[in-house]
Amino acid sequence: MKDIDFVRENYGPVARGYMDQKDPAQASIPIFKNWLSKVSSVLELGCASGFPIAEAILTQGLVYTGIDLNPQQIRLAKERYPQWQDHFREFEMVEYLRAQADRSVDGIVSMFSIRHLPRIYHVELFSEIFRVLTPGGYLLVDHPTYSEDGRGTWFEGNPMYWSSFSKDWQQLTLKELGYLFIEEYTDVKEFQGKEEETLFCIYRKPLG
Ligand SMILES: C[S@@+](CC[C@H](N)C(=O)[O-])C[C@H]1O[C@@H](n2cnc3c(N)ncnc32)[C@H](O)[C@@H]1O
Repeated sequence: MKDIDFVRENYGPVARGYMDQKDPAQASIPIFKNWLSKVSSVLELGCASGFPIAEAILTQGLVYTGIDLNPQQIRLAKERYPQWQDHFREFEMVEYLRAQADRSVDGIVSMFSIRHLPRIYHVELFSEIFRVLTPGGYLLVDHPTYSEDGRGTWFEGNPMYWSSFSKDWQQLTLKELGYLFIEEYTDVKEFQGKEEETLFCIYRKPLG
């Protein structure tokens, strides 16, 4: 089975448990609040159940589309937020971006999701995000702590696939693609009984 299909299949059994353990404080991280204050039309890549990130964006009344590969995640989002169900759509992130118009949103966010996309697609993903952002638009993403590619187990012992380059690779690649680095923030939270550090960065597509 291809790695993307493996990810799609293995998010199903953990979708509800993953949502139930989500910390609402993720939507209060300073860098997320800062990014949110700069954007008006948003695409989220790997939105899962929508809690708490889509909820924070939609509550502000912004234009929002959240996409996720896994059908159970999208079903959970539509059940949890019936008033916003049209905003959640089942798509693979690279395929979705390929079909979007140039300069169509001014904010793109992806948290804890790109790490499941096979590395062979990472340059295309960040190029497509750049194309789809309006000039002056903002990207908020997490950065991997190390480079890895392979299958293992995680949440409640379920199988999963991860794929990432190093933080240095990701930062250099985004710079070479033309993004401006704006700010970074390291968040520390507990996940499955262990302390986990995540580096988030905001990048901007230059004006003009
Ligand atoms: C760890 S969860 C993170 C969810 C949410 N962003 C958060 O911060 O909690 C990763 C999500 O990314 C989705 N995902 C993984 N690979 C994807 C891809 N290639 N395209 C779209 N969604 C993907 C998974 O289905 C899953 O819902």
